[in-house]
Amino acid sequence: MYRSHNCGELRLENVHEQITLSGWVQKVRNKGGMIWVDLRDRYGITQLALEDEVSSREAMETAKKLGREYVITATGEVIERLSKTNKIETGAIEIKIDTITVLNEALTPPFTIEDETDGGEELRMKYRYLDIRRSPVRRNLELRNKVSIETRKYLDQQDFLEVETPYLIKSTPEGARDFVVPSRMNQGEFYALPQSPQTFKQLLMVGGIDKYYQIVKCFRDEDLRADRQPEFTQIDCEMSFVSQEDVMQTFEGLATHLFKSVLGVELSAFPRMTYAEAMRLYGSDKPDIRFGMEFVELNNVAQNKGFKVFDDVELVLGINVEDAATYTRKSLDKITDFVRRPQVGANGVVYVKCNEDGTFKSSVDKFFDQEGLKAWADKANAKPGDLLLVLAGDTNKVRSQMNELRLHMGNELGLRNPKVFKPLWVVDFPLLEWDEESERFHAMHHPFTSPKEEDFQLMDSAPGEVRANAYDLCMNGVELGGGSIRIFDKQLQKRMFDLLGFTENEAKEQFGFLMNAFEFGAPPHGGLAFGFDRFCAMLGGQDSIRDFIAFPKNNSGRDVMINSPAPIDNDQLNELNIKLKA
Ligand code: AMO
Repeated sequence: MYRSHNCGELRLENVHEQITLSGWVQKVRNKGGMIWVDLRDRYGITQLALEDEVSSREAMETAKKLGREYVITATGEVIERLSKTNKIETGAIEIKIDTITVLNEALTPPFTIEDETDGGEELRMKYRYLDIRRSPVRRNLELRNKVSIETRKYLDQQDFLEVETPYLIKSTPEGARDFVVPSRMNQGEFYALPQSPQTFKQLLMVGGIDKYYQIVKCFRDEDLRADRQPEFTQIDCEMSFVSQEDVMQTFEGLATHLFKSVLGVELSAFPRMTYAEAMRLYGSDKPDIRFGMEFVELNNVAQNKGFKVFDDVELVLGINVEDAATYTRKSLDKITDFVRRPQVGANGVVYVKCNEDGTFKSSVDKFFDQEGLKAWADKANAKPGDLLLVLAGDTNKVRSQMNELRLHMGNELGLRNPKVFKPLWVVDFPLLEWDEESERFHAMHHPFTSPKEEDFQLMDSAPGEVRANAYDLCMNGVELGGGSIRIFDKQLQKRMFDLLGFTENEAKEQFGFLMNAFEFGAPPHGGLAFGFDRFCAMLGGQDSIRDFIAFPKNNSGRDVMINSPAPIDNDQLNELNIKLKA
């Protein structure tokens, strides 16, 4: 028998019990006549105590030879600890050891397996199985498990059916590149891995499965960031005979349930904002509304006063940073350095300090007198003690730069507390976005998203202004999920493909199966997908999704533990009839 208990469960009430524990050696302290061993398993740490005269000689000898991460099993009696600790849950007791057996020796681990580790990111990824022994990573996996169980509970109660869809399919239109898999049996042909189950879930609606969900892997060959992995998981859902409101209510319900059941946090009704408003006030389609600093347009108080940088631009945009007028020259220079980073791309930033005495001090005093600057401050609702930061340029660029600056200032001032959760529905996304490179429209969400009925009339004259029945759920500046009401009318779908520049043949080639299905009675339908990894990271209070995935890839899309991707041998290539360029 390897264990009667685990390493996290023994308490004072177990004193005098004879028990057996198994696990990994976290630490050995050898004080001559006494040896203490911290034994760890998934559930916690328990202290084993050995003492000359009291413990057997054999046990003492074994204990002396133990190294970090040795796997052992030990038997003994639970006793009350003299010096109790509340750092571990079993801190009131220890085990007076009778026997100790080494089940397996271990090499010295390349980093310390404790809550705080000295291992760098790459090393931890290479030895991920050791990293998983650390409680912060293990706790994240436990949280992930809880989120998936609660998701299934909630959706099951609402009569959703979990249906699996295939992974070996053909291109799905989510806007990233596909990962492709060559077919041996159909030489020269390739499967694509799904970027999402989008088309299949729509086919399930035609199939009459009116409430579908799936916790499902998706694959996207795109640039990676902290919140992006090449393979990631979605909570993917679709419903028939529903309005946008029905879908949003259902998934607001799911999100609320997850926060309540996993964190005990009550979220109140989620506010909503149109895409246009979000871009105007925050320069982002996923605004972090934990703090204010909304954008203020200053064109009519800042232009035509002889300052060229402002006069020739589309937009002069300010934010009011409360209580920051005391910023020193050095701090302001740092802000300038920040906006000049290539990732932000501004030439510089103009500041106005609203001094406590009611005067103003700015970096453009040469062009603006006190009265002029007061007009800015009034417009921005700035009070004495506040600091205005101003950027100018093309509308889209300035909004995006100001978004970066606003988030930066939010971080600097500690306004982005990960324990505070501010959900927001962003609605009325544009149907299309213009792609400069290919000089054509792309679907902003995907080509099956329906335009708003009241904007139908713009489809010919101003396609760029047509709004879609599309919605995103964002929280704290993260896009947690998104979805739309779909086109279920064949003619309208055709019209959409037209707008996107597909010829009839191309559309047929790529999506003929869906168009065909729509000939057989497609119900009105719509849905949404949450990013499951992002949801977990949000609940866990972290920015990076990596530590909520057991075996993630690094920023170059590599698994450094198994060393993949990797070349394949010639036999395999021949079998697939694939020739690599020399
Ligand atoms: P979308 O492309 O918006 O919609 O994806 C839904 C959600 O999935 C998450 N996500 C990612 N998470 C980690 N790594 C990635 N590379 C990644 N890409 C996306 C995000 C995102 O909000 N089929 C549609 C949904 C629908 O219309 O029903 C879709 O996939 O949190």
